[in-house]
Amino acid sequence: CGIVGYVGPQNALDVVLEGLRRLEYRGYDSAGVAVLAEGGMATAKKAGKLANLEKALVEEPLPAATIGIGHTRWATHGGPTDRNAHPHLSADGKVALVHNGIIENFAALRAECETAGVEFTSETDTEVAAHLLASAYAETPEGPGRLAEAMRAVSNRLEGAFTLVASHADEPDTLVASRRNSPLVVGLGETVDGTAEYFLGSDVAAFIAHTREARELGQDQVVEIDRTRGLTVTDFAGTVVEPTAYTVDWDAAAAEKGGHAWFMLKEIAEQPQAVADTLLGRLGDDGGLVLDEVRLSDQDLRDIDKVFVVSCGTSYHAGLIAKYAIEHWTRIPVEVEVASEFRYRDPVLDRSTLVVVISQSGETMDTLMALRHAKDQKARVLAICNVNGSTIPRESDAVLYTHAGPEIAVASTKSFLAQIVACYLVGLFLAQVRGVKYDDEVAAIVEDLRRLPEAVSEVLLQMEPVRELGRSLAGADTILFLGRHVAYPVALEGALKLKELAYIHAEGFAAGELKHGPIALIDQGTPVVVVVPSPRARESVHGKVVSNIQEVRARGARTIVIAEEGDEDVVPYADHIIRVPRTPTLMAPIVTTVPLQVLACEIADTRGYDVDQPRNLAKSVTVE
Ligand code: G6P
Repeated sequence: CGIVGYVGPQNALDVVLEGLRRLEYRGYDSAGVAVLAEGGMATAKKAGKLANLEKALVEEPLPAATIGIGHTRWATHGGPTDRNAHPHLSADGKVALVHNGIIENFAALRAECETAGVEFTSETDTEVAAHLLASAYAETPEGPGRLAEAMRAVSNRLEGAFTLVASHADEPDTLVASRRNSPLVVGLGETVDGTAEYFLGSDVAAFIAHTREARELGQDQVVEIDRTRGLTVTDFAGTVVEPTAYTVDWDAAAAEKGGHAWFMLKEIAEQPQAVADTLLGRLGDDGGLVLDEVRLSDQDLRDIDKVFVVSCGTSYHAGLIAKYAIEHWTRIPVEVEVASEFRYRDPVLDRSTLVVVISQSGETMDTLMALRHAKDQKARVLAICNVNGSTIPRESDAVLYTHAGPEIAVASTKSFLAQIVACYLVGLFLAQVRGVKYDDEVAAIVEDLRRLPEAVSEVLLQMEPVRELGRSLAGADTILFLGRHVAYPVALEGALKLKELAYIHAEGFAAGELKHGPIALIDQGTPVVVVVPSPRARESVHGKVVSNIQEVRARGARTIVIAEEGDEDVVPYADHIIRVPRTPTLMAPIVTTVPLQVLACEIADTRGYDVDQPRNLAKSVTVE
């Protein structure tokens, strides 16, 4: 979601709306604003794109004000409706609050507020924070910093990820904000005639048109901006801290892309967060999994005797990877199929079949038709989807959302990693409910999952040599990708990325299948990217891949090897090595995919193509 806040001499509504326009890429299923005018708090909010809100504001203008907040939403809890749009108000109408993130313990807090007599007006996790802030404010002694003190009290009670920005009708000169695991920056405007000007934003795009002087907030900090007292930052305990000052040197267009040349690069960089957010709230403290949102009873899950994974494009590759993990953990047979083939070949389905449909957009027609076919056959359908409230999750029996955030670039990156993680959660949950895995085994795998965001961050730090390699490959006519075990679907995804972005002929093969035909394609200098499974993978598959690298090199291939740190066996046969951190076998796709994305992006960029909007493609394909 995108967040904006403003205090200063200008018309707050204009500044807030302009900021929201620049932040709309962060989510656009609803938008809202609140300004604090003479007569009290005034809000407007609308489902749909920001343009809907702007139109409503023309028809019913808000009173003039110099303090305001705004939000453009990408729904998580509660569908994209007018009511669920932010800002949310407290019951007394005095607090207006916007939120980005997920409040994990909102159900318990909501129950507490309801017991105290509060009536909720939305289905969001956010509204609870507005009510809590109003009551914390009422309990805080009068004096400077009262609203910030109340915000700290509320922040200390929240679990999960949040950026909150709030305004209180009794504090016409003050805005407060709080952050944990979710971004927030402050912009410092000019002081004119002794009147200071401050901006708040989920990123600098929110205020880039006004100032380049920014302050970055740290983890677990509360900020107060006040017309007379200025800027005060504290930790959640109230100790004053100095925020990090920086000057923004991007132009406005780059700011929307977080300083990256392409949305795709930004989305690649967001992958640690996408993985972390998809795990958020789903890993219990006892090492087990909490998937309350999967509305299938334990008995339903125990009755499953077969799993189908059905999807398209990159989402299909996520399914192929999931098969290895789900079969290994649950011992239930898993079939993976592209959606456009699935229903036309009369697949064998019944009420004990679980059909997992994976779709970033939730609107892909092939996948939707496959889902409907599965339901007609009485199978149970679980959707893994990134867009809240879209058609596929609505028509499914159950849904597990990937929390990758909005994906703008047509070629999917962060959603893919989030889909793998979500599929793994489903597999592990099945194993847990059916009792095929002991608690300590589930806990160990959960630990492996928890380490993934860090591992992806490590890979991202080492991408400069990959970009350089990409530039040297930009003239290639064909590039082949090989892998075995979970690295095989990763090779397919690497080839797809290259086709999509760089329009270069690329194919992915199971490394063992090469000798049965495709090896004839290898010529002097043909680039071959080999994704090497972990040396700890089953049945010496690693050794076999090392042999496959030798086979292609002996026939003239230029070998580009993706191998984990410390794998020395590949060194003699690699023309280039891309290192990734040591990762358990089944987790490796989460890290090995990243260099392949970067490689495709760099090759396309070098060839002068539009990375975000490749020719002939669409982000969501709503025809069969
Ligand atoms: C389109 C996109 C692909 C995507 C596929 C499936 O073809 O160009 O990048 O992987 O659809 O999309 P979905 O939204 O269902 O995951």
